[in-house]
Amino acid sequence: MIVSQLSDIHLRVDGVPLKDVIDSEAALKAAVAHVNRMTPPPDIVLVTGDLVQRDSPEAVRRRSYAALVDRLDRLPCRWVAIPGNHDDRDAMREALAPGGHVPAHEGFLQHDLDAHPLRLIGLDSKADDGNQGHLCAERLGWLEARLAARPDHPTLIFLHHPPFATGVGYLDQHYHRFKGASDLAAIIGRHRQVRGLICGHVHRAAQCCLAGVLASAAPAVPFQMSLDFSPAAPSSLVREPSAVPLFRWSDDGGLIAHSSPVGDFGPRYPNDAAARRIMLTLGA
Ligand SMILES: [Fe+2]
Repeated sequence: MIVSQLSDIHLRVDGVPLKDVIDSEAALKAAVAHVNRMTPPPDIVLVTGDLVQRDSPEAVRRRSYAALVDRLDRLPCRWVAIPGNHDDRDAMREALAPGGHVPAHEGFLQHDLDAHPLRLIGLDSKADDGNQGHLCAERLGWLEARLAARPDHPTLIFLHHPPFATGVGYLDQHYHRFKGASDLAAIIGRHRQVRGLICGHVHRAAQCCLAGVLASAAPAVPFQMSLDFSPAAPSSLVREPSAVPLFRWSDDGGLIAHSSPVGDFGPRYPNDAAARRIMLTLGA
């Protein structure tokens, strides 16, 4: 089973570039085209929050959700989404629930997808205000009950906010505030069928071990934040290429994390004559 992830799309469809320079529509189009070139295609794509850009006018945000659905419906497989701090639950539900990409009922936008060999549980970590993550007693209780109900089914948890610090000063200062992060880690520690946790929010790839499992933050679709461990480094974005995280699950191999840089990197090995020449040179 292959799980793919798209994160922090920040779509804005009125032609105003993000941060004055970033074309979020072109970035989404490139990311979807990239997933569509994958062989075999993923079984599911998890869209981990910040689907649209919050500081656009409300009408633009609603149009952006509709455009996002139109674009993501071109993926070769099912996709589901959870909200990030930029998202509006009601607007998101209105655009995404008809296609089954979020639950239709009122309340938090969470998922429990257990029809796959790897069960996928999506958490809504959006706080009532501010950019920080928040898992309240209701959401934590929901997670614990779901995990307790099927203790033998290997599970991957996905949410927007990383419940871990990245070690990058300005990222942790601005982005690593998460009420309930230690409770989430304790729940994972109590339910050993959890094999991993994936998130977004920090606009950089970062991985660590959390409560004994892989915890991974994804690159963002339109732009990345800079990697600078200096304590006084300012918050800044860079034009690094995006990448699509892929998580392969098998009963014998467990969970393996991969990353596929978005872009066209030439003909596919080994069908290309130049690649065959390289093989011969290397003695392969
Ligand atoms: Fe974001």
